[in-house]
Amino acid sequence: MCGIFAYLNYNVSRERRYILQLLFNGLRRLEHRGYDSAGVSIDSNSQGQPLVFRQEGNIESLVKSVYQEVDDLDLNLEESFCVHAGIAHTRWATHGEPAPRNSHPQTSGDGNEFLVVHNGIITNYEVVVLIEIVIKFWRRSSGFSVVLTLAFPVCSGGCSVVLVLAFLVCNDCITGDVDETDSIDLFFPLYTFLFGDWNVRLAGQDIAVFVLSVAQLIGLLKEMTKVLKETLIRHGFTFESETDTEVIPKLAKFVFDKANEGEGSQTVTFSEVVLEVMRHLEGAYALIFKSLHYPNELIACKRGSPLLLGVKELSEEFNCGSAFHDAKSLSNNDHPKELFLSSDGHAIVEHTKKVLVIEDGEVVHLKVNILSFAFHAKEFDGNVSILKFDYDKGRHGGSLSRPASVHRALSVLEMEVEQINKGNYEHYMKKEIHEQPESLKTTMRGRLIRGGSCKAQTVLLGGLKDHFKTIRRSRRIVFIGCGTSYNAALAARPILEELSGVPVTMEIASDLLDRQGPIYREDTAVFVSQSGETADTLHALEYALENGALCVGITNTVGSAIARHTHCGVHINAGAEIGVASTKAYTSQIVVMVMLALAIGGDAISSQTRREAIIDGLIDLPNKVREVLKLDQEMKDLAKQLIAEQSLLVFGRGYNYATALEGALKVKEVALMHSEGMLAGEMKHGPLALVDENLPIIVIATRDSCFSKQQSVIQQLHARKGRLIVMCSKGDAVSGCPGGFSRVIEVPQVEDCLQPVVNIVPLQLLAYHLTVLRGYNVDQPRNLAKSVTTQ
Ligand code: F6R
Repeated sequence: MCGIFAYLNYNVSRERRYILQLLFNGLRRLEHRGYDSAGVSIDSNSQGQPLVFRQEGNIESLVKSVYQEVDDLDLNLEESFCVHAGIAHTRWATHGEPAPRNSHPQTSGDGNEFLVVHNGIITNYEVVVLIEIVIKFWRRSSGFSVVLTLAFPVCSGGCSVVLVLAFLVCNDCITGDVDETDSIDLFFPLYTFLFGDWNVRLAGQDIAVFVLSVAQLIGLLKEMTKVLKETLIRHGFTFESETDTEVIPKLAKFVFDKANEGEGSQTVTFSEVVLEVMRHLEGAYALIFKSLHYPNELIACKRGSPLLLGVKELSEEFNCGSAFHDAKSLSNNDHPKELFLSSDGHAIVEHTKKVLVIEDGEVVHLKVNILSFAFHAKEFDGNVSILKFDYDKGRHGGSLSRPASVHRALSVLEMEVEQINKGNYEHYMKKEIHEQPESLKTTMRGRLIRGGSCKAQTVLLGGLKDHFKTIRRSRRIVFIGCGTSYNAALAARPILEELSGVPVTMEIASDLLDRQGPIYREDTAVFVSQSGETADTLHALEYALENGALCVGITNTVGSAIARHTHCGVHINAGAEIGVASTKAYTSQIVVMVMLALAIGGDAISSQTRREAIIDGLIDLPNKVREVLKLDQEMKDLAKQLIAEQSLLVFGRGYNYATALEGALKVKEVALMHSEGMLAGEMKHGPLALVDENLPIIVIATRDSCFSKQQSVIQQLHARKGRLIVMCSKGDAVSGCPGGFSRVIEVPQVEDCLQPVVNIVPLQLLAYHLTVLRGYNVDQPRNLAKSVTTQ
């Protein structure tokens, strides 16, 4: 959800054309994160006067419009910069429609004094719900000013309802001459609303009781809820966008102006400005700041949304020499280098593999030509010094003047450039579907040990080895995920129940949070996520950690938030997945969870034959997937038949209930065709009413313990003249399934718990072909984006 990118070259000469192209390429690599609109900011001259370009539509529309504007402005594309800071953004709209004014970089106003690109959501920019207000006021009681204690209805003379609000004053902070630094806070609108222009002074422990009519209460709430934006408007700022982000650069300008008021010269550093801004922000964000006042500097900070720093050091021959520094006096710090900031590694890996995964609360200040450079010169080869913002302390009254400085080591990005290219494929989705035999092999590499003469077989999941005992003793295992990742867990649930003997329950992350469902200390909570950054899953993880459960991560992204914050876990190693519709990650997730079931199950004699069959099946699985991929043309033909349909149902059960859900999800998200995955056992409890000779229905009836029940489902649908497409095991088209259905998809048979891996492939192909035939962009489905980092 939104991709942010920045590039800073230091002591290496780069032309404006090169800088622009590099920013555009960065955005192309992040386009799967959002493709509603995009923007960049570069400098108009070497004094760092920023220019902003924003455009609705995809990156290519931006590129076109930038070159057009560059022409109009008569900017020289060949002009060189020895140091230059550029920022870029590709947007998935949350607040405000896709339009240039809502695109990023968002600015502080004319002159572009402060510019910001943002991934995430600022929750206190305008609307804060009542419950949050109460909590905020409650928190402020710890050493500050006001507590909202109660709000209750009172009947007055049987006519109007009146609400009484009582405020307990904890100290002397409520005075008529409210400190300006508090004014950008919740307190200010409340204060001005209640006291107006009176110079009221309340002493410590005073209790003020306000009797408000309902209308006044609503007015008060409105005042209190228009937090940052309203406050800034009161201070003379005008807003041009509907975004939550615009408050950030404006707040930066407010802070900067306040700090320099009455001073002859600039007194605050860029990082001080950003730290003060962070203090006022609620929500989730990864931010990159650029400023007219701090040319050639960038600041990155984050809370919740992902952000990486990439570091590429160049040899000295690249340095700008006397034009920039005296080459002889080059210090380690002056080494020519290129620095990159990005929402994910895809935009960095083609430049460097040396990265720093920025943690929540960290502020990375890229300021390369003076001594306070955030990288300590001596330790540059591997260590980065950054500022650490203690969010809770900062937000609720703590001092921000001296944020801690922390040293962290750079790590190596585990990603290859080839993985993020389309190769010979037209689309990422097609490439990723066809990559599955290989991705499955990589998922299993080094983890399945085939036995010797006694045929003992073992599963090695190193990341969990110290935790199996606890998992086996759990009261239950709870799978938590969203979308495709949830479906993968659902596919693996039966085998986990069978082999582990531990009850397994399923939770959609957002639903768990909505219900605040029970999670216990004795639970093992397994978080499944391709990106490892999905906001709902991450919040559910926080919740499970708070409740004391053992938290296990299953993710595709090394260094992701879920990988870092769980107690232990397994990487699925499926390789970079760029198509917005998840395909190869799904099959690799299932395989990892089957291996997890085997590992938890241990080596009980009673299940030995079953375990061996599964392990043999796993080893042969890539071949079976290669075989099923041969159905490509057949699925294209089926897609041609279905191209004009409005709706499609998919019925599955047992291991393949998940296949039905996932197949339908693929069709709906990319082909924009209504489709529903259903539990076949529920058919006669409602959905059967939909059946007629027009509605296409896919029934998954491959051989497993549910086979005969599925045959009876087929009979019942057939009796109602249903338009059936039956997925069955090879050889069953004639003998195993009743005749009369319109089409058969024959797939190779494998061990029952692995069948979902095989069965999903034709449905992925069907969704792909339907989309292409219907003329939609398969890699960028309407309204969607990869990595849903907002709740
Ligand atoms: C659908 C799809 C989504 C994701 C979901 C969770 O094709 O990709 O349903 O599965 O948004 O994402 P992750 O797995 O990254 O947590």
